[in-house]
Amino acid sequence: MSTTPQTATLSFSDGSPSVELPIYEGAIGPDVIDIRKLYGQTGKFTFDPGFMSTAACNSTITYIDGDKGELLYRGYPIEQLAEKCDFLEVAYLLLKGELPTAEQKDEFVNEKVIRHTMVHEQMKQFFNGFRRDAHPMAVLVAAVGAMSAFYHDSTDITDAKSREVSAIRLIAKLPTLVAMAYKYSVGQPFMYPKNDLSYTGNFLRMMFAVPAEEYVVNPVLERALDRIFILHADHEQNASTSTVRLAGSSGTNPFAAIAAGVACLWGPAHGGANEAALKMLEEIGHVDNVPAFIEKVKDKNSDVRLMGFGHRVYKNYDPRAKLMRETCYEVLNELGLQEDPLFKLAMELERIALNDDYFVSRKLYPNVDFYSGIVQRALGIPTDLFTGIFALARTVGWIAQWNEMIADPEQKIGRPRQLYVGSPKRDVPDVSSR
Ligand code: SDX
Repeated sequence: MSTTPQTATLSFSDGSPSVELPIYEGAIGPDVIDIRKLYGQTGKFTFDPGFMSTAACNSTITYIDGDKGELLYRGYPIEQLAEKCDFLEVAYLLLKGELPTAEQKDEFVNEKVIRHTMVHEQMKQFFNGFRRDAHPMAVLVAAVGAMSAFYHDSTDITDAKSREVSAIRLIAKLPTLVAMAYKYSVGQPFMYPKNDLSYTGNFLRMMFAVPAEEYVVNPVLERALDRIFILHADHEQNASTSTVRLAGSSGTNPFAAIAAGVACLWGPAHGGANEAALKMLEEIGHVDNVPAFIEKVKDKNSDVRLMGFGHRVYKNYDPRAKLMRETCYEVLNELGLQEDPLFKLAMELERIALNDDYFVSRKLYPNVDFYSGIVQRALGIPTDLFTGIFALARTVGWIAQWNEMIADPEQKIGRPRQLYVGSPKRDVPDVSSR
C-alpha cells in the first residue's frame, strides 16, 4: 500500500472543524480514505451496513474488477490459471504468493498435502453422532470446528510452523471430511484416501468408490472438478472470508476461524446459492415456465430472486461463470448428457434475463453459482453437498487470508461500532407497574 500526499477534506454543515483524511492508492483498483482517526477527531462514526464502500484491510492475494469482470489470484487472471494449472498449484500460489516450480510443487503435494489426507480415526465416532439426514454443511461446520479438538498441536497462531501445519491439515483433510459427510448420509462405509491419486481424483474416489469394487477415476471429470476447485479458491473480502478474518482477529485457532467461514458460506445469498440455483431450475422445470418465473422475480412482493444471478462486486459477467459454463458443457458432453434439460433451461433463462431491462438496469449477470450446480449434479454430487464442495475449495483462500491477517503488523481485533436507535436511558419499573 503506497501512501500518496492526497487527502480528503471532510467539512460539516454545522460549522464543526473540517478534518483532513489521508488517501492511499493500491497497486490497482480504487483508492481508500483512511478514516481510522475520524471518531477520535470528530466523535462521529461512518455508517456502512453491508460494507458497500468499506475496505476492511489491505491485501495482496486476490483482486476483482467488478466493472470489467476480472479476477486475479496474486495477479494471474483466473482464465489462465484455470487452463494452465491444477488446484494444488493454485493453492500454493494463494498461500505463498508465487506459482511453484516443479520441485516446489512436488514437495508441497507429495511431502506435505498427501501426508495429511487421513483424519483422526476417532472422527468416525464424531460423525456417528449425527442423524443420517443431517445437512452436510451442518456436519462440516461441526467437523471443521472439531479439528481444533483433534489437532491442538497445531493451534499456536504465533508459531509460523504451527500455522503452516494447520494450513496443510485443513487443505488436505477437507476433501476427506466432505466425502465422509456424503458417505455417512447415504449409509455407505467411509473410504480412506488413496494417496497415489491426485488431490481431486482422491476426492472423487472417496466420494463414489465402495469397498466392494475397484473405482477408476474419469480424467475428464477429474479435470473438470479440479477446475471447479480453482474457480472457488478465493474471492477477495467476501462474506465468509471476512468472517474468517473477524473470527481470527480475536486470536482464536485457525480451525475455529475456518469453521466460522464454513457457517457463513452456507447461506443462500453466498455459497448456498449453487444449491438454491439448482433447486430453482428444478422448480421452473421447463423453458415454457421461464417468462412467468421472471415476472415473479421482478415482483418485489414475491421475495423471489434469480439464484446464481447478481453480485455485490461484479457488475459485469462473473468470469468464473463463463468458465463454469464451459466446464459444464465438457462434462455433459463426456457423460453423453448434451441434451440435459436443466442445462438448456439455464442457458435459456440466462438469455432471457440478459435481455430483460430489470436485470440489465441492475447489472445482474450470472455468477459462479449459476452453472456450478448443473455440472456438480452431472458429476453425481448431491445438491445439498454443493456448498460443501465450495467450502472444500475456499478453505485455501480462507487460510491464505487468515495468514495475511495474522502477519499484518497493523492487525487489531475487529470491533465495529453502531448507530444506536434504541431506547434512551430509563429506570426499571417494579413489576406491579409494568
Ligand atoms: C457468492 O462476495 C463474493 O465474492 C461472493 C462469491 C464468492 O466467491 O465468495 O462470489 C460467491 O456468494 C456469489 C453470489 C451468490 N448469491 C446468489 O446468487 C443469490 C442471488 N443474488 C443476490 O441475492 C444478490 O445479487 C447478492 C446477494 C449476490 C448481492 O446482493 P447486493 O449486492 O446486496 O445487491 P442487492 O441485494 O442490494 O440488490 C440490488 C438490486 C435490488 O433491486 P432494487 O431494490 O434496486 O430494485 O438488485 C436486485 C435487488 O432486488 N437483485 C436481484 C438479484 N440480485 C440483486 N433481483 C433478482 N434476482 C437476483 N439474484
